[in-house]
Order: sequence, then C-alpha cells, then structure tokens
Amino acid sequence: MQDLQLPKAGTIEVAPSILSADFAKLADEIAQVEAAGVKMIHLDVMDGHFVPNITIGPPVVAMLRKHSRLVFDTHLMIMEPEKYAKAFIEAGANHLTFHVEVARRPVELIEYIHNMGASCGVCLNPETDVDAIKTVAGLCDMILVMTVHPGFGAQKFIDSAAQKCKRIRELVGPDVRVEVDGGINPETTPIVVSYGADTLVAGNAIFSKPDRAKAVEAIRAACGNDKGNNGGEIR
Ligand code: DX5
Ligand code: ZN
Repeated sequence: MQDLQLPKAGTIEVAPSILSADFAKLADEIAQVEAAGVKMIHLDVMDGHFVPNITIGPPVVAMLRKHSRLVFDTHLMIMEPEKYAKAFIEAGANHLTFHVEVARRPVELIEYIHNMGASCGVCLNPETDVDAIKTVAGLCDMILVMTVHPGFGAQKFIDSAAQKCKRIRELVGPDVRVEVDGGINPETTPIVVSYGADTLVAGNAIFSKPDRAKAVEAIRAACGNDKGNNGGEIR
C-alpha cells in the first residue's frame, strides 16, 4: 500500500506503538486505534542483538497489512538495517526508521528506501548526540528521538534525551517530522511538544488502558490549543 504516506508535517500525530498491545490479537488492537482516528501505527521491530528483546518480522507486517489502512511507521531496532529494509517495504511498511548507531552508509540507505517508495527516518538513542545525524537529517522525512533506552515498553521518560528535539527542530526546520518514542503520556506530551516534537509514539499510555479511543484523546488533549486534533497547526 504505497499510496499510504506519512502525514505531511504541520500537524501533531499520535502513533500508537504495538509493543504494549496484545500480540495474540494484533489486528484487533490496531483496529481499535484506527477507529480512534489515528493516521499511523508504530511497529516496533527488535532483533535480540541491537536491543535485548525480539518482536516481529516482515511476515507479521505482511499479515497486518491486510487488516489496516494506517500508515505503518516501522521502527527497525535491528543490526544491519540495510539487509532487511526491502523485505519490510515489500511487506507493506510505508515508513522505515533505522538507527544511526548501526547504519554503515546512512545516505545510501535513505536513498535506497526512498527509491522503493517508502519514506525514511533515522533514530537516535538517548546517549547519541545530535551531531551523529547532522549530515543526513535533511534527507529524512522524520527524525525519531528515543526518550527511553530502546527494547521495552513502559519505561520512564528521559527528559535530557527529549531536549534534543529542540536542536533537531532547528536543524530540519518545519517540514520534517520530529518523533519521540518512550514514556509519552498526557503528562510528558506538553513537554515534548514544547521541545518541537510533532509525532508522539505511545505504547503503554494507550494499550494498557481499556478504552483506547479515550487514551488517544487524552494525549491529543494534552498537546494544548487543540494542536493534537488532526489538522491543527503547530507552526
Ligand atoms: C521502545 C519502543 C517504543 C515503545 C514505547 O523500545 O521503541 O516504541 O513501545 O513504549 P512506551 O510508550 O510504553 O514507553
Ligand atoms: Zn519504537
């Protein structure tokens, strides 16, 4: 479904992360947040090497693709992302994010992903300096800032990591999305929005709640000034 694209920058979007969902009924879980009006779903891919946890691969993405019209925001927490990018796009990923810490030739990888029709992002771990993405940031459609150490859901938000959004926003301007991932909830949302983030990944804050629509709404409401309602201006 290459007709599905990352929403154009200029709105704040909530991207529920499947990591805290019930993996035995993933399609139903995704349908619930789709009904809540989100435009994208964050798929966490872990390989047991880059992070000490294992989740899903291309076959699961391909099956989910049959059940959802959401943009698949695919977060590759894996070694050798260049080796697997094609398989994820063929499975139906619309946006691929790889970690700058393990990318051998990031410029070439971004080009490769774009040429296959997907949008692309780079991600920085909490301890990785913004300088690491300086040369590639402008080539990306979205920059992902980890606000916890990757690998697990429901961890505590790291403010010093989130603060990197300010410099990244300066670096990329208003037309590239800045996404935050880890510990995002109605309390931390206004903080990250004030730092310049416009794409809010939330796992535990949504999938640990019985009413997913209400949980999504609580994050949108926390953006302030109706900014979180899709279409709201953030510039
Ligand atoms: C962590 C993942 C996140 C995770 C966030 O390694 O990349 O996407 O699901 O989880 P919460 O929102 O629970 O902190
Ligand atoms: Zn993630």
